Amino acid sequence: MKAVILVGGQGTRLRPLTINTPKAMVPVLNRPFLEHVIHHLSRHNASEITLALSHLAQPIKDYFGDGSRFGVRLNYVLEETPLGTAGAVKNTERSERHLDETFLVLNGDIITDLDITAMLDSHCRKKSKVTIALTPVDDPTSYGLIETDAQDRVTRFLEKPSWSQVTTNMINAGTYILEPDVMAYIPPQTSFSFEHELFPLLLERGVPIYAYPSAAYWIDIGTPEKYLRLNKDLLSGRGGQYSLGSGGKVVIGEQSDIHPTAQISGPVVIGSNCTIGQGVRLIGPVIIGSGCVILDDSVIEETVIWQAVNIGKGTAVRRSIIASNCRLDDGSIVEEAVLGDNVTVASGYKLEAGSKIWPGTAVG
Ligand code: GTP
Repeated sequence: MKAVILVGGQGTRLRPLTINTPKAMVPVLNRPFLEHVIHHLSRHNASEITLALSHLAQPIKDYFGDGSRFGVRLNYVLEETPLGTAGAVKNTERSERHLDETFLVLNGDIITDLDITAMLDSHCRKKSKVTIALTPVDDPTSYGLIETDAQDRVTRFLEKPSWSQVTTNMINAGTYILEPDVMAYIPPQTSFSFEHELFPLLLERGVPIYAYPSAAYWIDIGTPEKYLRLNKDLLSGRGGQYSLGSGGKVVIGEQSDIHPTAQISGPVVIGSNCTIGQGVRLIGPVIIGSGCVILDDSVIEETVIWQAVNIGKGTAVRRSIIASNCRLDDGSIVEEAVLGDNVTVASGYKLEAGSKIWPGTAVG
């Protein structure tokens, strides 16, 4: 099956991490987020993939190339200005690889264990034109809610309902199977979304839209909180096929040097070429990217650190995200913060909890 992955969004809610790094390249278990998504598609025989790009396209192209390293064939289609989710898919008609058969569309900021093969079976059995994966959430008020009849045919869409309007906890999971003739309803070179425009239009015209409810693991990395939660889930075994395993597993990359007095309580993943100094305490879940240096007596707890980060002596970092090439000098304290790349924090400085620091800032 052919697939389109939407990776052209600005990722504004995940800033400052996404100022210089596209959301699709944000690391998860020390690999770009999108690599996990591509592996999942390839396992379900959706290995002819078009990436619909706009914002920060080049780093994605540079890393994934023609896709052969990942066992898939990749095609790139660029929008000059973002065309919205459905407009981006319509825009792929310009490429030489047309969507001329039943195809899959995915929001590129979702990790899910969804059984795509079973979803395709259901789509074909029901002779559906559009099948939308649904997932249960505790609080549906910030999502697109979808009501169905007993046969799972969609009867109503409700975007970001108030609690008094909530009739189900099943929301649009951002994964769709479509028939190619549906593309005729999307205007060319116009900003158009699946959720707000195409699906309500199809419903109005009586086009059969079915839901595919699933309780499989599902999370989007829309915000720093959810990004941290995803990493925690994968480290603690709650993330289905993406999980590292359960229990307090510790994984140490090649050429990393861990001082014998360092205390590591898993789950902890340390990338390659890292140095962990004397008396350092790593209290999981913690992920450290490659080429990081953490000097003596520092404490790192429930934190994700990207690549080439230098952390001085006696520093404390808790429940935070530290992007690449940051430097935290001796004795600094960073808690519940998000640091973009190339941020420096001065020696002894305590960053206010909840801080979001833009790339390149020198703090203190
Ligand atoms: P926010 O700015 O934080 O809302 O993030 P976002 O820009 O990623 O938007 P949203 O979370 O709604 O997007 C869901 C998925 O669709 C993400 O994978 C986006 O990359 C993708 N997406 C959103 N808008 C566009 C677009 O105009 N073009 C393309 N190609 N992809 C898009």
